[in-house]
Amino acid sequence: MIKKRILITGGAGFIGSHVVREFVNKYPEYQIVNLDALTYAGNLENLKDIEDKSNYTFVKADITNAKHIVEVFREYQPDGVIHLAAESHVDRSISDPLAFVMTNVIGTVNLLSAAHDIWKDNYEGKRFHHVSTDEVYGTLGETGLFTENTAYDPHSPYSASKASSDHFVRAYQDTYGLPIVVTNCSNNYGPNHFPEKLIPLCIHNILNGKPLPIYGDGKFTRDWLYVVDHAKAIDLVFHQGQIGDSYNVGGFNEWQNIDLVKELCKQMDEKLGKPTGTSVQLITFVKDRPGHDLRYAIDATKINKELGYEPSVTFEQGLSKTIDWFLNNQDWLDNVTSGGYQKYYEIQYQG
Ligand code: NAD
Ligand code: TYD
Repeated sequence: MIKKRILITGGAGFIGSHVVREFVNKYPEYQIVNLDALTYAGNLENLKDIEDKSNYTFVKADITNAKHIVEVFREYQPDGVIHLAAESHVDRSISDPLAFVMTNVIGTVNLLSAAHDIWKDNYEGKRFHHVSTDEVYGTLGETGLFTENTAYDPHSPYSASKASSDHFVRAYQDTYGLPIVVTNCSNNYGPNHFPEKLIPLCIHNILNGKPLPIYGDGKFTRDWLYVVDHAKAIDLVFHQGQIGDSYNVGGFNEWQNIDLVKELCKQMDEKLGKPTGTSVQLITFVKDRPGHDLRYAIDATKINKELGYEPSVTFEQGLSKTIDWFLNNQDWLDNVTSGGYQKYYEIQYQG
């Protein structure tokens, strides 16, 4: 007997695959529909372990295609939506901002409209959970934390597109009464992370003896959360969050990029049986990212106090698990770094 049908968008991507796994395994009474366009960042290999489960279905669809999205909603009649599909890499947003407007803004509005279309006569038991980022808040100086009340001040085309999508989500609640919740999470890391992002890129480069490119002076600060802990927070907010509310998700875990990469080098040397100090020699300072936000840091008090949320691992533990996963899944890394990745890498890191 199916208790709920939940449509998860972007479920073949990094975070989405962990959310799909969490829901498929934890809720056998739910039907989980993973809707994904399988862009360069989407990979069904991420879900090999659960793809044959009877409560899991995959649908290939592009959220920018309004007509197709309405058809999918009418066919599957979801009670809940957890929306993660997005263009997610800041550097790509600098070279191709329009792709971010299309997927992150127009795609989100298409999903909101499709949900409104099938739910409008009865919102009882329905919920649209929009997964967003702390980057919408812009940058902090040396001190302070982002709270749910911090004004939006995005700087990159990526964060501007996510901020815009967050505004549309709230507009659908205010205008049509659509039952929404929003989570704004800090930087994630963990298994299946696409190696265009700092941590998996450095793991890949250490394995291949290539330079570790650090933008600017490396003093930029990010707040890192293990991806499985983000999936657990989404589960909690999806089920127990107040309709209409936002929840910041993070682990009070700030690292300057240079210190983080040094810690990664230390752990990689140990795990690869190399003398300490080997990988750190690969660190190379390269030209800075335009509009680079200095510091992100999340105040996760609300989700902790209201919903009892706490991350399950420390950063050192999460990083160790992450490195182990990459060392045990080098085929995955080889597959995603062949083809188009090489071209992207050449253009992004030229000169
Ligand atoms: P990702 O790039 O790894 O995955 C995105 C997924 O969306 C891929 O499977 C891709 O195929 C799919 N997708 C892209 N365009 C699509 C389209 N037009 N139609 C349907 N599917 C499409 O991203 P991620 O890092 O897993 O991020 C997931 C979500 O979480 C995003 O909304 C992102 O903004 C948000 N977020 C990410 C982080 C982070 O650190 N990665 C932190 C906070 C919030
Ligand atoms: P990234 O993983 O791209 O996440 P985001 O930009 O969403 O925070 O980058 C994390 C930090 O690492 C950010 O300050 C930019 C920096 N960075 C580098 O120094 N070198 C790199 O090659 C990359 C990809 C990122």
